[in-house]
Amino acid sequence: MSHVLGLKCTGCRQEFPPQGMHYVCDRCGKNLDVVYDYNLIKKKVSRASLAENTDFSVWRYWDLYPLKDHSAIMPLAIGWTPLYRAETLGHQLGLEKLWLKDDGKNPSASYKDRASSVAIAKAVELGFEKICGASTGNAASSTACLCASIGLSPIIFVPEAAPKAKIAQLLVFGAKVFAVKGTYDDAFDLCLEASEEYGWYNRNTGYNPYTREGKKSCSFEICEQFNWEVPDLVFVPVGDGNIISGVWKGFKDLLGIGLIDRLPRLVAVQSEKSSAVADAVNGDGVIRPVKATTIADSISVNIPRDGEMAVRAVRESKGMAVKVPDKDILDTIILIARTSGIFAEPAGATSVAGLRKLVSTGAIKDSEKIVCLITGNGLKDIDTAMKIAGQTIPVEPELASLKKILGE
Ligand SMILES: Cc1ncc(COP(=O)(O)O)c(C=O)c1O
Ligand SMILES: [Zn+2]
Repeated sequence: MSHVLGLKCTGCRQEFPPQGMHYVCDRCGKNLDVVYDYNLIKKKVSRASLAENTDFSVWRYWDLYPLKDHSAIMPLAIGWTPLYRAETLGHQLGLEKLWLKDDGKNPSASYKDRASSVAIAKAVELGFEKICGASTGNAASSTACLCASIGLSPIIFVPEAAPKAKIAQLLVFGAKVFAVKGTYDDAFDLCLEASEEYGWYNRNTGYNPYTREGKKSCSFEICEQFNWEVPDLVFVPVGDGNIISGVWKGFKDLLGIGLIDRLPRLVAVQSEKSSAVADAVNGDGVIRPVKATTIADSISVNIPRDGEMAVRAVRESKGMAVKVPDKDILDTIILIARTSGIFAEPAGATSVAGLRKLVSTGAIKDSEKIVCLITGNGLKDIDTAMKIAGQTIPVEPELASLKKILGE
């Protein structure tokens, strides 16, 4: 694994060796970031080598991950999700070049499979027998799904109010599931204590440095799917801030190895009712806890665990942060579905809700090339969808009854 130089604290810059497992900095408590030898990776990865690569999953980018043990690869189709040109939606918003990256297509139906792929492979490589994680729901169902695919059964902590479909996934995949009587943040803290007590591998978002490494793959795919033309703007739904910091790392990796020559601007989108990252970006840059109450459960976070790196990603990219009312998130689920045929869960639709808001304020140029990440499938939370989707029409099983309703 000579292409990995080590890990570096994002706060005090203390360095850690690539061997063994390091979570957060033992000196200042901040998150760690994996540092690569780009010169070495450049020798292996090129546009030509990728063009010849027949693995259309996250593993086609193997040389850009901090892994050495191929035997830890899950046999599932993770990543390489469709990047759809959204012409009808773009037309409605007055935008010429809009694309949607449908990450609900992943095996457990959310973006989180990208994070789990690398984080779980790392656990296997290091020989951990027990993997645990806390989650608003998707990271957990992803962990359970990917673990099941290699015969493992993780220990999961979710807030008891997590949507039923996500809990069903956990149980079906055979995880041991603790429904924590509290918030996601409570589940996170309990999981942390338990992993320290029992020596379990902890996959928590914004604590385990390898989730960010997995989340990079989306940026690699976007650039490849655009034949290496970098988009102008990428809209990302933000909770803990780990997806957006991973997306940024991915683009920077590609710049570092010379596969692209410029970076996109990132737009962090949050609900008004869970807006710690957006408030920090638009304020003094300091993350302050909030009391999150958004219906978009996957991005309902009091203390964003990768918030500082998320703020850094937006600012470094000269991007923006925007917050939207929950009502707009719900309306946007319907708008995306009826213009693109993609059913997003509330968090997954938040990127487009943010785009709509910035279009309405004139902050977006019509000709900019824009990608919105749709990070989770709508079947994850049908209770919310049913509140906004409309009504069925009761009818007797007779043509006469149908005709009466149709007004004939
Ligand atoms: C569907 C979906 N969208 C967005 C996010 C936000 O990701 P992050 O918490 O890394 O900001 C999550 C996280 O759980 C998610 O499940
Ligand atoms: Zn430190």
